[in-house]
Amino acid sequence: MSSQPKPQILFRREEIAATVARLAAEVTKDYKDRRPLLLGILTGSFVFMADLIRLLDFPLEVEFLQVSSYGRGRESSGRIKVVKGVSSPIKGRDVLVIEDIVDTGLTIAFLLDYLRKKKPASLKLCALTDKPSRRQVPVTIDYLGFTVPNKFLVGYGIDWDEKFRNLPDICFVEGED
Ligand code: PRP
Repeated sequence: MSSQPKPQILFRREEIAATVARLAAEVTKDYKDRRPLLLGILTGSFVFMADLIRLLDFPLEVEFLQVSSYGRGRESSGRIKVVKGVSSPIKGRDVLVIEDIVDTGLTIAFLLDYLRKKKPASLKLCALTDKPSRRQVPVTIDYLGFTVPNKFLVGYGIDWDEKFRNLPDICFVEGED
């Protein structure tokens, strides 16, 4: 796609807020006495993480981890590596991974494997969106916001070629996917 696409709204900010509140209630029920480590996957999860943790009224820690999985275009390269690892101890912790989107599943499958080797007490996944039509490897999402169609999402932290992360709604851009 050569020209910049025009994003169209898929989920408005009010619907996102209600969904994040629902997820926060589910997470609170399971983690309120466990001082979990919430591990956000950069960059796309930062807006979701910021909204989610402000609804969690119990002790927790936050860290971010970065992998490279997509190039600057729209297709997964399938090649994944950890760019910024975790500095907090993982062993024996209750770790909740926070993702903005599970698409092919390659990124999160790699990451959960990477984290499992560090021997957490528990390891679960909270994803704002899930695009099951694109899945290449099985992934269990323990806390899910939205199941989404096979469209390229942008906004609320999610980018298209590093653009549109600042849109307050979850949108999509047209084009082949
Ligand atoms: C996105 C998203 C997930 C991954 C999902 O990240 O945040 O980490 O792709 O795709 P997959 O299920 O096909 O592996 P991206 O690599 O675009 O980086 P970003 O978060 O920095 O935008």
